[in-house]
Parts: sequence; C-alpha cells; structure tokens
Amino acid sequence: MASKRVLVTGGAGFIGSVVAEVMLDRGYAVVCVDNLVAGHTAAVDPRAEFVQANLLDRSRIFSIFEQYSFDAVLHLGAETLVGKSVEQPGLFFDVNVTGGLNVLDAMLAHGCHDLVFSSTAAVYGEPTTMPITEKTPKAPVNPYGESKLAFERMLPWFPQLRHVSFRYFNACGATLAHGEDRPVETHLVPVALEAADGRRAGLSLFGTDWDTPDGTCIRDYVHVCDIANAHILGLEQLEKCSGKAYNLGTGNGFSNRQVLEAVRKVTGVNFPITDAPRRAGDPERLIADGSLAQAELGWTPDFTEIEPMVETAWSWRKAHPNGYGR
Ligand SMILES: NC(=O)c1ccc[n+]([C@@H]2O[C@H](COP(=O)([O-])OP(=O)(O)OC[C@H]3O[C@@H](n4cnc5c(N)ncnc54)[C@H](O)[C@@H]3O)[C@@H](O)[C@H]2O)c1
Repeated sequence: MASKRVLVTGGAGFIGSVVAEVMLDRGYAVVCVDNLVAGHTAAVDPRAEFVQANLLDRSRIFSIFEQYSFDAVLHLGAETLVGKSVEQPGLFFDVNVTGGLNVLDAMLAHGCHDLVFSSTAAVYGEPTTMPITEKTPKAPVNPYGESKLAFERMLPWFPQLRHVSFRYFNACGATLAHGEDRPVETHLVPVALEAADGRRAGLSLFGTDWDTPDGTCIRDYVHVCDIANAHILGLEQLEKCSGKAYNLGTGNGFSNRQVLEAVRKVTGVNFPITDAPRRAGDPERLIADGSLAQAELGWTPDFTEIEPMVETAWSWRKAHPNGYGR
C-alpha cells in the first residue's frame, strides 16, 4: 500500500521540521510548505518535498492541493512571536486566521478532511488557577493567542472536517537533525544557549520577586519530540478524538532561574545573568494539566525534566554552530 501523504505547513520552522522528521520516520510521505519568514530551507528534512509558499496566497495554496493528493494536514505554519503580535495584530489575524482558512478551504475543496492544528497555551491568557486544564476559560491576552483561538473556534463549523488541536506549552529541545534557530530569538532556552556559546554577552532575568520558591516565573516545558509524537497519536486516532483540543505539557513547572541553571550545568558555562524588573504581561506561573492527552490518546512524554531537554538542544547547537546558516 502506498504511504499516506501529509502536508506540514510551517515545515521549515522549529517544531514543523521535527514533526516532518517524525512523520517521515513513521513512513508517511511529507510535503512541507513554508514562506521562510522564520524558517529555513536547510531545516526541511531532505526526505520531504518542499514548496515555498505564503499561506496568504490562496490560489497558490489551492494549486499545491491540485498538485498533490493529501490524506491529512498538520497545520503549524504561523506567526508566533507574542511581542510582534502586539505591534502587528493585523498580520497575526491575517496569517493565523485567513492563512489557516485558505488551507482549510483548499483541503475541503480537494477531498482532504483530516487536520491537526498547532494551537497554544496562549489561548488561556493568564489564568490564576493551576494547573491549566482544557476547561480553563479561554481568555487570550495578546493577538497571538486570540488569533490561534479564533482558528480553533472555526473548526467545529466545518462538519466535513475531522480535526484535533494541540495547545502546546513551552516547546524546547531538538533532535540530532533539527533544532531551534529563529532570526529573532525570544524563547528562554535558545536565548540562554546563545549566552552559553558566546553569541550573547549574557541575559536578563525579568522579575525576581514573584511569589514562587526562587522568585522567578514558572513555565511548563515540553520536548519537541513529545509534541511531534502527540501529532501522530492525534492523527492516527482522529476518529475518536475529532473535535477535541488537548494540552501538551508535562505538569512539571520549572522556574526561569532553574532553566538558566540547567543551561549553565549542561553547557558548563557560567554566562552572566542580570536580575531585571518584571516585564508587563508575564504571568507568574503557567502549568499544564496534560492528563487528558495521556488518558485519551495514550500520550506519554518521554521528557519530563528540564536538563535532558536542554541537553538535546545543546547537542544540536554544538553540531550546528551556525544554526541553519542563514
Ligand atoms: N514554540 C513554542 O513554544 C510554541 C508553543 C505553542 C504553540 N506553538 C505553535 O507551534 C507552531 C510552530 O511554532 P515554532 O515554534 O516552530 O515557530 P517557527 O516560527 O519556527 O515556525 C513557524 C513557521 O511558519 C512559517 N510561516 C509563518 N508565516 C507564514 C506564512 N504566511 N506562510 C507560510 N509559512 C509561514 C515560518 O516561516 C516558520 O517556519 C506555530 O503554529 C506556533 O503557534 C509553538
């Protein structure tokens, strides 16, 4: 039997490149679509086909579906940076909602009915009750989260579609082949690794007076391979889970200081850390209840501690000192 073919939008980005890799390992044929605004050609798995295209180019997206027959779409392509979303809300609603709708319409026009959507913990905003379950009220506090929630909310209105959404918490880590290399980096683990390998002089720790054991904010980190595995589980059990959204997090919160200490330990570099005032809009803690994905999909994260996650990211950095060589 011919292998199933899937489209991975955002397949030249951090998580998309790993999702493509894991799908290929699993025997799927993969086509990656990405406009390279934040991704890299070199991040596309060599076994995948690559089409450079903008999700906003509706006729181009339709023509890709005419060229290939897809069994399913894994939709990760998106504008993702929270700060940028506050500065350019229109861009985020455009790419993340209209761009997503272009993919959706193209799917349905070409008989493709299965979708896995890459959502985010940002749909919850700043809840005060932890851990965050899928029932926690959705109250985004930035255009990024709002745009992702808007797309999630559109999905049930398309009855022909089978869909599952995954709300990732803080993705990190790498495989041997694919890691995190954005043109503008704001995520804590890669920023700290840049401090460790000398590409940054050091870093600022924003907020050290929170009501947490070490005074710094707490986040839930989830390894990119565990995210990719969840996509396969969701896709292969769509009959059962269609219409649902699942949190992807381990339930283990790590403080910013713990993350930085893990990076120092793994890299062996005591890069400078400067205590700085709190940043507006940083919630004190965001911790997932990931038990629904575990119970319903059989998702068990292999990585639950921060150090092994950081080790994989550091191994990729050492093997790719210039990242993807932009
Ligand atoms: N990294 C995280 O911690 C995290 C957490 C929650 C959700 N997510 C979601 O996971 C997905 C992947 O995120 P990532 O961290 O890998 O970010 P990323 O920026 O590395 O990947 C996104 C990819 O989408 C592409 N893209 C952006 N606009 C496009 C457009 N108009 N047309 C075609 N391609 C376009 C980018 O070039 C990039 O390669 C996103 O949907 C993001 O919202 C990420």
